[in-house]
Amino acid sequence: MCGIVAYLGCREAYPILVKGLHRLEYRGYDSAGVAVINEAGKLNIYKAAGKVSNLEQIAEGHDCSGTIGIAHTRWATHGAPNQVNAHPHLSQSGNLTMVHNGIIENANDLRDQLKERGFTFKSETDTEVLLQLIEYTKLKHELDLASAVRSALKVVVGAYAIAVIDRQDPDTIIAARKSSPLAIGLGEDNCEFFIASDASPIAGYTNKVVYVNDEEVVCCRRGEPLQITNLNAESVDVQAKEIDLDVSMLDKGGFPHFMLKEIFDQPAVLRDCMRGRLLPAHKRIILSAVTEHREELIKASRFIMVSCGTSWHAALIGKQLIEMFCRIPVEVAYASEFRYSDPVINPGDVVFALSQSGETADTLSAIQMASEKGAMVFGIVNAVGSSIARASDTGTYIHVGPEIGVASTKAFTGQTTVLAMLALAIGREKGTVDEKTYTDAIEELQTIPDKIARILARDEEIKALAAEYAGKKNFLYLGRGMNYPVALEGALKLKEISYIHAEGYPAAEMKHGPIALVDEDMPVVFLATHHNLYEKILSNMQEVVARKGKVLAIVSEGDTVVKDIAEHVIEVPHTSNFLCPLVSVIPLQLLAYHIAVAKGLDVDQPRNLAKSVTVE
Ligand code: AGP
Repeated sequence: MCGIVAYLGCREAYPILVKGLHRLEYRGYDSAGVAVINEAGKLNIYKAAGKVSNLEQIAEGHDCSGTIGIAHTRWATHGAPNQVNAHPHLSQSGNLTMVHNGIIENANDLRDQLKERGFTFKSETDTEVLLQLIEYTKLKHELDLASAVRSALKVVVGAYAIAVIDRQDPDTIIAARKSSPLAIGLGEDNCEFFIASDASPIAGYTNKVVYVNDEEVVCCRRGEPLQITNLNAESVDVQAKEIDLDVSMLDKGGFPHFMLKEIFDQPAVLRDCMRGRLLPAHKRIILSAVTEHREELIKASRFIMVSCGTSWHAALIGKQLIEMFCRIPVEVAYASEFRYSDPVINPGDVVFALSQSGETADTLSAIQMASEKGAMVFGIVNAVGSSIARASDTGTYIHVGPEIGVASTKAFTGQTTVLAMLALAIGREKGTVDEKTYTDAIEELQTIPDKIARILARDEEIKALAAEYAGKKNFLYLGRGMNYPVALEGALKLKEISYIHAEGYPAAEMKHGPIALVDEDMPVVFLATHHNLYEKILSNMQEVVARKGKVLAIVSEGDTVVKDIAEHVIEVPHTSNFLCPLVSVIPLQLLAYHIAVAKGLDVDQPRNLAKSVTVE
């Protein structure tokens, strides 16, 4: 939800800002803008509706020079995604300019108050309101910019990550955060500053990063070390972390889209995810969070998993894995519902937060609430150092590298892999999984990356099928047991990037309503791999075929039964029941991808979506 970048140092700011915006474009791409102050002290602002490439066209040939600047890529919340509403916004005096990620919930009241004081507004945004409030506070109380920002932020309700500069002081950037992520890269001599919504625009310049905490205000001054205060102007310790971000992961690596690259990344990144944790030679799974919190985990009376979207689908798989191997009851909740449901949290409950980005606002609030109610929070997160990772008591990173395509792919298989290792590790400590099941599972888990690679080798075959199905208006995805969440995930992948209506259902539930939709125009995708409910799903398939439904089935290699029933089949290698989501989801990712490409759609940046949902 919006990406912000800012730079202050000795280099030209504009190329750094634009490159950073491209890396943050996954966060929103409704409009983009940049502001730089040149050597003569002139503030130049360029803005464009649409993507960062539009901004580059608009700025081309104009003065973009200067060693201080701020920039923004937007996912619209207040006001249409046009040039006027694009950031950076300019204050009434024309001196201050600001970029913002988040929502100011009391913007309407503040706007009315500022209007009464003579302020006028050019845009419909809440950001402009906050900026005018900062200016009003600065002028009225004759404050420096940092003090004015602190005072103004005490008045606002909502979420923000901001960066603001003053034309009259081209040596300072003030930044602040609350509930929206903000990282500061420390460059040469710790006096060069790269400010961004995540570490990706910083990678390649420095590996020293400070993650800003809620209600902290950051003062970057040319030639001086970074200073951080809280809203009461009390000094806060600056703690830099060394980050290890592989810059090559931020590029498409020769693939036409990030999504396809990330689908093909899966064999390698799942090996990374298991490295050092799955130890086949020792027949052990070692997860430090399980070692450190063994007692709380094995004695837990209940696990609750909170998450959104694809991460919620992974949680549904996690529930089955934990109940299978650990015999601990698991509840799975949408984070957005959980946080407002006044949930009963008992002593001994452990709350798991699953999140690729680690920044999803609903998931973050849900675990903050669970923490307040005394639960231990266990994060299963991809983005290292993200808000959810930091708000968790313990956790396991999925380590699949940055995921940039809006449609989540490798994060889903990474989460599933971590959940499988976690369930086996806890189950072994608890004594609810026998040694043979445990060692067989370890052996099978390590074969998964190669099995996924074998499915990826069928990409052309899946592409050809996608061409046949691209014209369809509706799809049903059906699966059972471990494959039921995969049906939900397959449907979500298709709808979010191809804009085709798709529904996922547990296959047997179809008879209770959705079967009414089935006719010769309704493709029904069945997850029919050889697993414990295979026979049952065959019956469900017959029911669809009897109604002239067109069946596309994902089957285990060598299956001959489904071939006679289905219109088309895609074969995947056989694996154990508990791991079947890791293979059966791959063809569904490729199918969605190729259908969207066949329809000429923007796969990596589908309409209305953003990668990281930092508003509730
Ligand atoms: C998945 O393809 C989606 N783009 C979306 O559902 C996503 O999984 C959801 O917003 C949760 O994000 P998180 O994992 O970063 O918390």
